[in-house]
Amino acid sequence: TGASIETDVLVVGSGPAGGAAALFLAELGIPTIMITKYRFTANTPRAHISNQRTMEIMRDMGIEKRVEADATEHALCGDTVFGTSLVGEEIGRILTWGTHPARQADHTLASPSSMCDIPQTYMEPILVETAAKRGCHNRFSTEYLSHTQDENGVTANVRDRLTGHVYQIKAKYMIGADGARSIIAQELQLPTVGNMDIAGSMNISFKADLAQYVETRPSVLYWIIQPGSNIGGIGAGAVRMVRPWNEWIVIYGYDITKEPPKLDDDEARDIVRKLVGIPDLDIEITGKSLWGNNELYATHFQKGRVFCAGDAVHRHPPSNGLGSNTSIQDSYNLCWKIAQVLRGQADPSILETYSVERAPVAKQIVTRANKSAREFVHIFEALGIKPGMNQEEISKEIEERKADTPRGCKKRADLVAAMDKKNYEFNAHGVEMGQFYESDVVVSDGTRPVNDRDPELYYKATTSPGGRLPHCWLGAGERHNKYSTLDLAKYNTYTLFTGTTGKAWAAAASKVAKAFGVPLTSVVVGPGQDAEDLYYDWAKLREVNEDGALLVRPDKHIAWRSMSMSKDPEAELTAVMGKILGRK
Ligand code: FDA
Repeated sequence: TGASIETDVLVVGSGPAGGAAALFLAELGIPTIMITKYRFTANTPRAHISNQRTMEIMRDMGIEKRVEADATEHALCGDTVFGTSLVGEEIGRILTWGTHPARQADHTLASPSSMCDIPQTYMEPILVETAAKRGCHNRFSTEYLSHTQDENGVTANVRDRLTGHVYQIKAKYMIGADGARSIIAQELQLPTVGNMDIAGSMNISFKADLAQYVETRPSVLYWIIQPGSNIGGIGAGAVRMVRPWNEWIVIYGYDITKEPPKLDDDEARDIVRKLVGIPDLDIEITGKSLWGNNELYATHFQKGRVFCAGDAVHRHPPSNGLGSNTSIQDSYNLCWKIAQVLRGQADPSILETYSVERAPVAKQIVTRANKSAREFVHIFEALGIKPGMNQEEISKEIEERKADTPRGCKKRADLVAAMDKKNYEFNAHGVEMGQFYESDVVVSDGTRPVNDRDPELYYKATTSPGGRLPHCWLGAGERHNKYSTLDLAKYNTYTLFTGTTGKAWAAAASKVAKAFGVPLTSVVVGPGQDAEDLYYDWAKLREVNEDGALLVRPDKHIAWRSMSMSKDPEAELTAVMGKILGRK
């Protein structure tokens, strides 16, 4: 009963997907209400790896520094250890998340932004607070119940959890970012592939000062090989830093086909002490939860005016650290499209491209994360550890890798190969940065990225339509301040990049923008132009001639390119804009 509330977009959920959607829509000036079930954001650390693509998005929103201030910096993230316990014998290390000198170069070349580690308990408040400051109405303790939709909009039934009062919110569009147990994805009957709860995991968070054990090898993750640590879970036991170096989580598996562990404080303390390897370690248990590993993705994310984003449409283990990142990136893909449709700039048919572009990413990341968890088996196999072995037997097998014997020699060789494979979990830069879209809001020129290295491990910069605008530093303004190419293409506009002999494109762009009523900013790169190619890098990266053009979407993906000047740039750009706005 009572009057319903009206808005343009209703966002359900304040997690990475919902919090980010609320922020992006607010940034674009779209009237938005974000509702969430609880009185505040996530109360456990959950996802933490923030990859370069996510940090670029934070940069685009003007909050990169704010996120970094609450994060653990890149340099402390990557000396990842595999051992018999945190303080026990080391089996080996991998420099992860681009901290290897060679991979560091790949990271620095790829992006103006740096990967960092920020637990969800820190990230979500930044997203929802900035969203509110920029105009979104955030309603906490508000539970989504159900919805109906017709050709004009969506009506959601929601309950105020403090009063029990049920009321309606009417919106033109709704985003279901309600997580892995999404009611909205279920209501929409989104088609899915895969299964939920394929293995059991537990998270135990605790406080203990472990600085002295990790200072020479700072990392966000320490992987533990012990009896039982390969049952269920994410491949092996893990001790994960939450705040350096006195807040932690252990992640441990259990057999999901059996009775779940009781996990009282005593049992939790025992598991922590076993994985850390200090039997009388002084710890304070701060939380414990059981969760199921999932391998499930939706192949379509939308029905009519309702979209799903985040874990609602892709569910997978934390391996590769893709959960929160992909959720934020879903919303980044969707929100500018909704904004253009609400403003009447684009035809509603372009909204279909959200599923077309993001469903393949969902499939890719769910597959990658699960494969990474399974690939721990190679380390166990290389060491000769078989299921059911006790501590003594395992210690003997691990010890044998030191032996001056043919078996010892084989173990060492097998470990090299098994550890190499873990780069697909911890240095999958291509998966993180190389997303490529094929849809109606991309005008393909028939090219796709050509990568002469492994496309999962290595990102290849390309201006092939569908790819992400390559980063390089340009100079702009009187003082030749340095800007990334990505800084010059904002979320509230299309951006056309061309060179000195391509100025006719810029002139055409302003006419075409006016005719369509869409924001389109031109950046002419050249000495004395809008931006200067200070390091002569852009000339090598842009892949088009100086008089060619790149049209960049608000989400920094290339919509279209022309290799050189056209006879009639205005006609050509008119055709392109007509197509990508669905207004042919
Ligand atoms: P998310 O689940 O974060 O958010 C859902 C939102 O919807 C919440 O705000 C919730 O309140 C709201 N909501 C749900 N139902 C609602 C309703 N009916 N009405 C109103 N609001 C409703 N990932 C990783 O990469 N590394 C990790 O270590 C971990 N660890 C981890 C631990 C635990 C315990 C969990 C639960 C999850 C993880 N994850 C993780 C996964 C990671 O947290 C996940 O990928 C992202 O949070 C997904 O973000 P979403 O915004 O899609 O959903």
